Amino acid sequence: MPKIYIWILFLILLMKGDSIMNFYKNIEPIHHPNDILVLVNKNHKLDKNYVPKDLTKIDISYAFEDKFMRKEAKDAFEKLSMTAKSLGYRIVATSTYRSYEYQEALYTQYVKEKGLEYADLCSARKGHSEHQTGLAVDVEGSNQDYDEFEKSPEFSWMINHAHEFGFILRYPKNKTNITGFKYEPWHYRYVGHEVAKIIFEKNITLEEYLKNFS
Ligand code: DAL
Ligand code: ZN
Repeated sequence: MPKIYIWILFLILLMKGDSIMNFYKNIEPIHHPNDILVLVNKNHKLDKNYVPKDLTKIDISYAFEDKFMRKEAKDAFEKLSMTAKSLGYRIVATSTYRSYEYQEALYTQYVKEKGLEYADLCSARKGHSEHQTGLAVDVEGSNQDYDEFEKSPEFSWMINHAHEFGFILRYPKNKTNITGFKYEPWHYRYVGHEVAKIIFEKNITLEEYLKNFS
């Protein structure tokens, strides 16, 4: 292999390794948790006591059971699901707002079942889940299994249209070095339709948008 390629490979690995090594290090407390563009990730942590003030129940036609999101996100999600329904699709919320304590229990369970390394790729530690913001939603389609959402007919519709309603695919494929989490075809985050459109068109993550375009 020519030397130049070895150097490029080395630099890529160094950059990737650098961000992976920084996850859960130098954690910054989040000061404005009510911002629609709030960044919650492995380096930005929500307060234990943060609960959004405007959590609102999603119409049961579009949710698996009683599920709550912040009002603006909930309205947008209902619009999305309603539009999908009119086209013959089924997009239902399976997980939305999660409290700090509930996230802690989920994460602990993951660690028990899958081990620390894998758990950290799939589940956020307490205070580090954007489900605590009330702006995130996990969905399932007509195959009724969120984990298999990618195989449902709803997935390709969602991928191409979620941004029109203000949602982004939060943990895309091949972006683990930036987001810290493995690909989650079912997890969408409300950011408002203007920002969602930019993130969609540029094929970037929320981290990249906030760093380079806001
Ligand atoms: N599964 C996502 C990363 C969470 O736990 O918030
Ligand atoms: Zn999720």
